[in-house]
Amino acid sequence: MKKVAYINQKINSFNSKICVPGDKSLSIRWILMASQAVGTSIAYNLLKSEDVLSALNAIRKLGINYKLNKKNCKIYGKGFGGFKFKNNTVIDAGNSGTLARLIFGLLINSKNQIVLKGDESLKKRDFSRVIKPMQMFGQNIKSNNYKLPIKIKGTYFPRPINYFESKGSAQVKSCILLAAMKTPGITNIKSVPSRTHTENLFKYLKLPIKIKKGKKLDLISFKGKKNYEGFNYLIPGDISSASFFIVLTLLSKNSKIIIRNVNVNKSRTGIIDILKKMNAKIKIKNKKKYKGEEVADIECKYSPNLKGININTKINSRAIDELPLIFCLVCAKAKGVSYAKNLGELRHKEQDRLKFVVKFLKKIGIKTVEKNNNLKIYGDPNLKLNGSYIIKDFMKDHRAFMLACIAALTLGGNKWIIHDADACQTSFPNFISLLKSLGAKIN
Ligand code: S3P
Repeated sequence: MKKVAYINQKINSFNSKICVPGDKSLSIRWILMASQAVGTSIAYNLLKSEDVLSALNAIRKLGINYKLNKKNCKIYGKGFGGFKFKNNTVIDAGNSGTLARLIFGLLINSKNQIVLKGDESLKKRDFSRVIKPMQMFGQNIKSNNYKLPIKIKGTYFPRPINYFESKGSAQVKSCILLAAMKTPGITNIKSVPSRTHTENLFKYLKLPIKIKKGKKLDLISFKGKKNYEGFNYLIPGDISSASFFIVLTLLSKNSKIIIRNVNVNKSRTGIIDILKKMNAKIKIKNKKKYKGEEVADIECKYSPNLKGININTKINSRAIDELPLIFCLVCAKAKGVSYAKNLGELRHKEQDRLKFVVKFLKKIGIKTVEKNNNLKIYGDPNLKLNGSYIIKDFMKDHRAFMLACIAALTLGGNKWIIHDADACQTSFPNFISLLKSLGAKIN
């Protein structure tokens, strides 16, 4: 695999139908939940990316077998007491924040100690957000300033908790729900809304979860410890991966794309709502329900009349992984000024993505002001690049790499040299080959 991507021309117009790989959030959740089921579970269209393989390796280290082949993935769950591993077994979560956070929940009652590790980017990330609630359940955790490597040992008697999840983080909420699943009694979470895949899986598996949606907060109460049987799942396409092709199409003259079978769960479609408000030509078609999720085709067309937007803070968590792409490309090419507020959570991703956005926009000559985690972007519909652009030092952030490729293919410029091309293996291994199938020239 080449480590540097060279792009020196825009993509020509295209008209295509594509599929993007399976949803990363759902793939990791399916693996973790199947590891606790009684009996065999099968997933189809599981994302085969590094983050997901880290999750499969993790459950194998904990004593759960799986078989992965081209057609499907089978996990042989042994119920809540099924983990068997030696003291100080090492789990390497690689680059995956979702795996590293959610696994705490499953280890709530582990008898032996786990040493949780990660790559250079994950080692910089903060785990206090999950360590604090897990300690309330009674988990024993040793860390140096809440950073990896972290030692985790469960408790024989986990106790249910009442917790206020104030960050709008689905990773925190899901970690608590997984711990609650293995804890007798009722756990209550008051939570700023975030993606709802874990709750949807619980409902599908008929686990006793109750959810009250308030104006600002969700009230979730959940009664542990009810077993469930192995279950099958067809993982829909990942809207976060689809978003790169949506933006590519919006900014490519006379182009059109249909992206089939994408997960359009409302807690993930902030990007569609934002882009539509900016005058993007996007339609959601053939919407169907699937095991608590919603799946549809996304149709998208070249949109020359994009306008700036004032992004409502409430939408941030519904577009958390797509905001940098929207800022760096769509707001940059839109007419007028765009505003976004309370972007602090972007600093806690694979890299400080807010810093990356500001650096990137300055590099391509877009006036940008960042103050106290609020952003102001002065768009330019006539933006035409003609310099050379080197993109590096982004902590191998998969989404930063893909964003830079889409910029190179839509904004022009003499030459783009984008480092760490293997970063897309984290979430979207066939990203480059799918771009090439639309006619992109990438070396
Ligand atoms: C994820 C939740 C989000 C998101 C991440 C995946 C998940 O993180 O950024 O890519 O699968 O739960 P936070 O919950 O920390 O915002």
